[in-house]
Amino acid sequence: MNSKKIAVVGTGYVGLVTGVALSEIGHNVTCVDLDAGKVARMQQGISPIYEPGLDELMTKNSASGNLHFTTNHNEAFVGADAIYIAVGTPEKEDGTADLRFINAVAEDIARNLTSYAVVVTKSTVPVGTNDHIKQLIAKHTDIPFDVVSNPEFLREGSAVYDTLHGDRIVIGADSEKAAEVIEEINEPFDIPVFKTDVRSAEMIKYASNAFLATKISFINEIANLCERLDANVEDVAAGMGQDKRIGDRFLNAGIGYGGSCFPKDTSALVQIAGNVEHEFTLLKAVIEVNNHQQRLLLDKAREQLGSFKGKTIAMLGLAFKPNTDDMREAASIVLAEQLVLAGANVVAYDPIATENAKKVLPEAVNYAESPEQALKGADAAFLVTEWDDIKALTPQQYKELLREPLVFDGRNCYDLNVMRDHHIEYYSVGRPVVAPEKELV
Ligand code: UGA
Repeated sequence: MNSKKIAVVGTGYVGLVTGVALSEIGHNVTCVDLDAGKVARMQQGISPIYEPGLDELMTKNSASGNLHFTTNHNEAFVGADAIYIAVGTPEKEDGTADLRFINAVAEDIARNLTSYAVVVTKSTVPVGTNDHIKQLIAKHTDIPFDVVSNPEFLREGSAVYDTLHGDRIVIGADSEKAAEVIEEINEPFDIPVFKTDVRSAEMIKYASNAFLATKISFINEIANLCERLDANVEDVAAGMGQDKRIGDRFLNAGIGYGGSCFPKDTSALVQIAGNVEHEFTLLKAVIEVNNHQQRLLLDKAREQLGSFKGKTIAMLGLAFKPNTDDMREAASIVLAEQLVLAGANVVAYDPIATENAKKVLPEAVNYAESPEQALKGADAAFLVTEWDDIKALTPQQYKELLREPLVFDGRNCYDLNVMRDHHIEYYSVGRPVVAPEKELV
C-alpha cells in the first residue's frame, strides 16, 4: 500500500477515531486540535473519550510513529495528501447546523496549503456546504486542491469497530483525481466504496440518520399501540424483521433516541428542507414522537406511585446508550429534571458517564457507586440505559434492595416471565404489564 500523509482537524469522536483508524492501516496521520491540554494528553496515549479499543490503537500507532498530535495546523498541513475536516457542527437554537468551526478550518487550510491536497469533509454538513468550503478556500489560495465529501457512519460505543468494518464508504467528489486519492487511502479497510457527486454524498449522511431515527420512532409508536392492544412489540419487531426488505435492526422500542447525532441531524434536515420550501412532514412527526417517548416512563410511574413527592427513584443508566460516557440528548436528562421538579429524590448510577452527568443533570441528583447502592431503599427503579452491569441485576436483587419490587424499564431488559415468577411489578415498553401481586388481589 502507498502510505499517505494525512492531517485530521478536530479530535472529537469522528476525528480521533478516523485518525487512529487511518494510522492503523498504515498512513502517517497528524491529528490537530486547538486545545493544548487535550493534545498533551493524547500525546501520552490518553484518549479524551471513552471508546472501547481506542486507547490500545492510539498507543500502538503513536509508538510506531504513524500517529501524531499537535496544535499546530501548519505542521500538520505541510505536504499532506489529504486534510480531513472533522470538527463539530452543533445545533443552533433554530435547529440549523452551526458551521462556525467548519468555516474557521477552511480558512486555516487555505492559509497553510503548500501543495495540492484533497480536503475531505467528515463532519455532517448541510447539502451545499462543501461547495461553500471550496469557494472559501479558493478565496485565500492559488494552490490547487479538491474538496471531497466522505461522511462518517460510525456509532459511539462501537466507533473503532464500525470504522474498521463499516458497510460502505461514501465518496462524494466532483473530481475523479480526488476520488481516486480517497479511494486509495481507504483501500486497506476493504470496505465497499460508493462513489457519487458531492451533494448526493452530503445528503446520504442526513438521509441515513433520518431513516434510522424514523425506524426507531416507528417502532416506538407500534410499541405504544401494543400496550393498548395487549400485544408484545418484541415479537412484532422480530416478525417484521424477518422480512428482508424491513430488516430486524434498529427496531428496539424504548425511551426514544438520544445522542449527538439523530436529534441534531433530524432537526437540521427539517431546516434544510424548509430552506428550499419543502415541509418535511414525516421527519417532523418522527421528532415529535421521540420527544414524547422520553416522557412515557414518567407517566407510567406517576400512575402507579400517585405522586413523586418524597419518593426515592433509583435511576439506572445515564448515558444516551451503553458503552459511551456521552450524555448529549440522553433521555436521563429529561427524566431526572422532571422527577426532581416533581419532588422526587433521584439516586443515579452509571458505570462510566457519572462525571459528564454531573455537568448536565439537576444538582439535586445523588449518585451511587453501584447499581445495588442506587436501588437500596428506593421506592422504584427506572432502567434508562441498558449497560451490561445493569442488565446483570437479578430480579431477586430488585426484590431485596427496593422498598417494593417496582421496576419501570425503558429498555426492555428483562424477560416478562422471569419478572412474573419473581413477583416483580414490572412496566416495560410495548409489552404487557407484569403485576403479579395486583393480579392476586
Ligand atoms: C448514529 C448512527 O447509528 C451512526 O451510523 C452515525 O454515524 C452517527 O449517529 C453519527 O451521525 O455520527 P450513534 O448516535 O452513535 O450513531 O448511536 P446509535 O447506536 O445509532 O443510537 C442512537 C440512539 O438510538 C440511542 O439513544 C439508542 O438507544 C437509540 N436506539 C437505537 C433505539 O432506541 N432503538 C434502536 O433500535 C436503536
